[in-house]
Amino acid sequence: MRTLTGITPSGTLHVGNYFGAMRPAIEAQSRGECFYFIADYHSMTALFDPAERRKNTFEIALDWLACGLDPKRCVFWRQSDVPEVCELTWILGSLTPMGLLERAHSYKDKVARGISPNFGLFAYPVLMAADILLYDTNRVPVGQDQRQHLEMTRDIAIKFNQGYGETFVVPEAEIRDGVAVVPGLDGQKMSKSYGNTIEIFGDEKVLRKKVMSIVMDSRTPQEPKPDADRNLCIQLLRLLAPAEVAADYESRLRAGGLGYGDLKKGLFERYWSFFAEARARRAELAANPDHVEEVLRQGAVRAREIASVVLKRARKACGLA
Ligand code: TRP
Repeated sequence: MRTLTGITPSGTLHVGNYFGAMRPAIEAQSRGECFYFIADYHSMTALFDPAERRKNTFEIALDWLACGLDPKRCVFWRQSDVPEVCELTWILGSLTPMGLLERAHSYKDKVARGISPNFGLFAYPVLMAADILLYDTNRVPVGQDQRQHLEMTRDIAIKFNQGYGETFVVPEAEIRDGVAVVPGLDGQKMSKSYGNTIEIFGDEKVLRKKVMSIVMDSRTPQEPKPDADRNLCIQLLRLLAPAEVAADYESRLRAGGLGYGDLKKGLFERYWSFFAEARARRAELAANPDHVEEVLRQGAVRAREIASVVLKRARKACGLA
C-alpha cells in the first residue's frame, strides 16, 4: 500500500497545518510505504521570485524534517528533482478534456479572485495527476479542497487505461476530515487566509504576544464559567497539553477563579514546550543546509527509480519509443 502526497511550499506553517496535515503524515510512516514531495513545480504557477521559491522549498523541508518526517522511513524529495513528471504531464494532458479542466473549482476560484491565469495554472490538475500516477500510488491523503483534483486524477487514469491498456494504478483519495479542526486566534478555523494563525516556528516574543492577544469575553475571573469546554484556550490546550492538564485548566475555569490572562499564559507555555523538540531539531537542520540538500537528493534517487519504470510503461503503452 503506497501513500503519496504533495506538500505546497507556501510560507510559514501554523498549528492548524500541524494537526491537520503534518501529524497524520508523520504517523502514517509507521503504517506503510510513504512518498512525500515538495511541490515546487506547482509553486511556479503563482510565484515568480526564484530566491523566494528556493527559500520556501528549503524552509518547508526543514519544517517537515524537524516535525518528524524521517527519510529512513519515507521517501522525501523535491518534485523538480524528478523531471519525468513533466513528461508524464504532457502525455496525460493530451487526453485530458478541456471541459474537465474548465470545471476545476480551484482554477475557477483563482480566476474569480482576479488572478490572471497562465497555462500552468490551468494545467495544475494534470501535473498533480502525473505526480500521483508516476509512482503507482494507492492512497492520497489530502484536504477537502483537493477532492476534485483527485477525482480528475482518477478520471485521467481510467481514460488512459481504457484507451491505451492497463497502465496506471487508479488511486483512492483519503480526505482528511476526521482530523482535529484547530481553532485560530479568533475562534474560526485556523487558516492563513483568515489571518488567525499561531505559527509552529518563529520568534518567541512575537508568538507570546499573539497568544496573549486571544480575545476572551468580559466575565470576571471569579465568575464560574459553565461553558468552559467551549473556551478557545481550552480547545487549544486539549491539543497541545496532556489530557489531564487540559482537563485541570477546564475545571478551574468552570469553577471560577482562573483569570483569562493566567489561562493564556498557561496555554503559551504548553504550546511552546509542545514544539520545543522540533524547534531544536529545526535549528540544527538549518545550520546544516548541505545535509538537508543531501536528504532531498537521496529521496529523489529513490523516487526516480520508480518514476522511470512507470514512465517507460506509459510511453510504451501509448506508442512512444
Ligand atoms: N495541490 C496540492 C495542495 O495544494 C499539493 C499537491 C501537488 C499534491 N501534487 C500533489 C497533493 C499530489 C497530493 C498529491 O495541497
